[in-house]
Amino acid sequence: MLERIEPVEIVEVAPRDGFQSIREPIGTEAKIEMINTLARAGCQRIEAGSFVSPKAIPQMADMGAIAAGIERPAQVRFMVLVPNRKGIELALANGFDEFGYVLSVSESHNQNNVRRSVDDSMRDLAGLVDWLSAQDKGWRLRVNLATSFDCPFDGRQSLQALAARVREVQSIISDAEIALCDTTGRANPRQVAEAFARVQADSPDRRTRWAFHGHDTYGLGVANALAAYEAGVRRFDAAAAGLGGCPFAPGATGNTATEDLVFAFEACGIKTGIDIDRLTAIADRIAAIPGGVVASHIRHVPKERLHA
Ligand code: COA
Ligand code: ZN
Repeated sequence: MLERIEPVEIVEVAPRDGFQSIREPIGTEAKIEMINTLARAGCQRIEAGSFVSPKAIPQMADMGAIAAGIERPAQVRFMVLVPNRKGIELALANGFDEFGYVLSVSESHNQNNVRRSVDDSMRDLAGLVDWLSAQDKGWRLRVNLATSFDCPFDGRQSLQALAARVREVQSIISDAEIALCDTTGRANPRQVAEAFARVQADSPDRRTRWAFHGHDTYGLGVANALAAYEAGVRRFDAAAAGLGGCPFAPGATGNTATEDLVFAFEACGIKTGIDIDRLTAIADRIAAIPGGVVASHIRHVPKERLHA
């Protein structure tokens, strides 16, 4: 009997993780146009940006205009990153109902990123879930566990520390999407496979939806994603052109390039739903944004050899 190969869902994060790494303002119209073009290339989920302090990330100060300007095709789900209640309120007011709440496994990164202890971030998450549950609106929550594998300040994170934080999140909300984030790109495929095996074994009720957010700093982004797939993960973050680098994670480069991930999955017979020709065309334009740092393989192969 032929085994059915399960497809993946790729979350395009260039408009958030990618754009936030660029100091110079990109221009609101250009951002809107790039988001619309990514949607037309078949990206079914897009992280459109973040509602964060404009002092922390000036590039995201135009989120209101972006929310008003982007097309919202029915088949595309948009997510925005939020660090606190203010972010969620702004996101809701701007027509978003999917939130990525970020907290780190490591203390130092959490302090640098959201200026709180991890315990405080966890308490804030509990308060946000209570507050959201009392609203008369539909919403979906993704919890991004930054530095799940490695921290730019504290180094490698133990599987025990990660598993303990995952359990805390699950005790607050059992049916969230939880992304294990390789913020620095320093994880390796064995570590990724072991981490997902462990957290899934710890969650027998299977209500959590798992995702992997990888960076390609050490060239292991695709290998790590494939290891996560083998471990049962079906949701992956990636950024067109491999744009990025967290302003609060020195030494990290961009997310794994979406086109590299799409090529790798499709080559393995795993459907992504994304049109690689259209994707590389928009990735070329994203790569040309002044001030951006990009890295990808597939953009550089001859166009007629793009198909797996
Ligand atoms: N959206 C917009 N503005 C916000 C905000 C949000 N979600 N949260 C706070 N602010 C504003 C406050 O209103 C305040 O403005 P004011 O100085 O004009 O009064 C200012 O930001 C500081 O607010 P405060 O609550 O004291 O936050 P802080 O200085 O302790 O910073 C965070 C905490 C979480 C708001 C900030 O560190 C942040 O936005 N971090 C996001 C980092 C990020 O996006 N990292 C990359 C993704 S992993
Ligand atoms: Zn990231």
